Amino acid sequence: MSRRKQIYEGKAKILYEGPEPGTLVQYFKDDATAFNAQKKATLDGKGVLNNRISEFIMLRLMEIGIPTHFIRRLNMREQLIKKVEIVPLEVICRNVAAGTMSVRLGIEEGEKLPRSIVEFCLKRDDLGDPLVAEEHVYAFGWATQGEMDEIIAMTLRINDYLQGMFAGIGIRLVDFKIEFGRLAHPDGLGDHMIILADEISPDSCRLWDMETNKKLDKDRFRRDLGEVTEAYTEVATRLGILKPNPSTANISVISSND
Ligand code: CDP
Repeated sequence: MSRRKQIYEGKAKILYEGPEPGTLVQYFKDDATAFNAQKKATLDGKGVLNNRISEFIMLRLMEIGIPTHFIRRLNMREQLIKKVEIVPLEVICRNVAAGTMSVRLGIEEGEKLPRSIVEFCLKRDDLGDPLVAEEHVYAFGWATQGEMDEIIAMTLRINDYLQGMFAGIGIRLVDFKIEFGRLAHPDGLGDHMIILADEISPDSCRLWDMETNKKLDKDRFRRDLGEVTEAYTEVATRLGILKPNPSTANISVISSND
């Protein structure tokens, strides 16, 4: 790892220069942060679980035609990805009221929304990632109208697919955050295509057990509910990534090539 050039270090991931031009290596750390990094901890095994869960979800989404930055998983903590220019927006899609939406609009957490809602936050840690309107996006040139049309259409498609995928394993997809990037068009034309980037994992989704409403996501860390990696392990097990292992919290990976 030390031989590679580090491009960027975020709160939960590190990006290194990739082996070929146009690629990067995305390394998943065990670090967890919340409330704009005011709360921090290291959760043993979280990076391994998020690497696997995000790989699984990206592959499923690619199967239904969503373009993503994912190329392949390299090992327990790393995946090879396409280098993109990140659109500076956190795109949040919500099906059930929770978190900041409940607080902002006074809707009780757990209330089903009349329809799925897509929101945008500016990626600015120093400002606490403020909620912005599409008008801000165009006025400040963070993305074009064409790009936003693609982003919204892809987000709703991802939401439809993931809601069904999680429902099939008894999990309610309450909300999630995704990020998109610009990739030079493969046919060499001047324009850029928008692809899904970053990760999709229990760090970036709210996932509730459908029967008990047990939280199986990062809210366990944010709200000091305990058993965070156990909950992530439960998600990975239900997705079929890990072998069920009721006696221990050990991670036994199915068909690993690590
Ligand atoms: O998570 P929090 O309550 O601060 O904010 P939210 O706007 O209610 O978050 C909506 C969804 O986006 C949740 O699933 C969060 O985990 C996710 N999110 C994220 O992954 N990263 C952020 N910086 C903000 C939200």
